[in-house]
Amino acid sequence: MALHRPQPTTPWLAPNLRYLPFMRDTPEPKVPELTNGRFVLRGWILADADIAVVVRAAQDPDIARYSSVGSAKTPEEAERWIRTRDVPDRLDWVITTSTQLLGRVSLAHIDSTDGVAELGYWLLPEHRGRGLASAAVGTVEQHAFGPVRLGRLTIRHESQNDRSCLLAQRRGYLTEGTARGAFVRDGQRRDLHVHALLATDSPSL
Ligand SMILES: CC(C)(COP(=O)(O)OP(=O)(O)OC[C@H]1O[C@@H](n2cnc3c(N)ncnc32)[C@H](O)[C@@H]1OP(=O)(O)O)[C@@H](O)C(=O)NCCC(=O)NCCS
Repeated sequence: MALHRPQPTTPWLAPNLRYLPFMRDTPEPKVPELTNGRFVLRGWILADADIAVVVRAAQDPDIARYSSVGSAKTPEEAERWIRTRDVPDRLDWVITTSTQLLGRVSLAHIDSTDGVAELGYWLLPEHRGRGLASAAVGTVEQHAFGPVRLGRLTIRHESQNDRSCLLAQRRGYLTEGTARGAFVRDGQRRDLHVHALLATDSPSL
C-alpha cells in the first residue's frame, strides 16, 4: 500500500522529533543511528517499509504474545504504533541492513535521574538464531552506558519466554528474581523474570 506522505528531510528523524532533557544541548537526533558492522539501527519513520515490518511482526505468534506490536495488525494500527514510539522516555530503533528490516530494539522508561531503562526487542522469525538480537542489544548497551550515561539496564520477560531469558543470560544480565503476578494477559495474572546489567558489570559478548 502506498502512503503519500512528505519525506522528512532527515530520514531517520520522527516527524514530531523531541529531545530528551539530558540530550537537549547535543546536535544528535533523539534516536541516533547506531551501527555495528552487521546492521544499522535507526529510528522508526512513517514509511511503507516500516509499516510493513510492523504488520508482519504482529502476525508472528511469539511477537504478538510478548510485544506491544502484537496489536498492530493492519497498516493503520502499525502507523499508530510507530507514532507511539516517539515519547520522551523512549528510544526505539528498527534493525536494518541495506536491503531489509529485521526487527526492533528499544530502551523504554528511560529515567535520567536514576540512570535506568528497560530493554525490548524482537526479530522477524527468519532472522532468529544468528545472534542478531544479542548484537543489537549490545550496540544499544554501548549507547546507553556511553552517551546516554545510564547505570542500569533491565530485561523483564514473561516467565515462559525462554528465548528472551537465554538472550539476557548470554549477555551477562544477572537474574534478579521473579515479579509474581506482575501483569494480566488474556485474563490471567502472569509472572515476569527480571534481569539486570549495571554499567559497572564486566562486558559481555
Ligand atoms: C527473543 C528473540 C529476539 C531472540 O532471538 P534470537 O535470535 O534467539 O536471539 P539471539 O540474537 O540471542 O541469537 C541466539 C541464537 O543465535 C546463535 N548465534 C549464532 N551466532 C551468534 C553470535 N555471533 N552471537 C550470539 N549468538 C549467536 C546462538 O547460538 C543462538 O542459537 P540457538 O537459537 O540455537 O540457541 C526472538 O526469539 C524473538 O523475536 N521472540 C519474540 C519476541 C520476544 O519474545 N521479545 C522479547 C520480549 S521480552
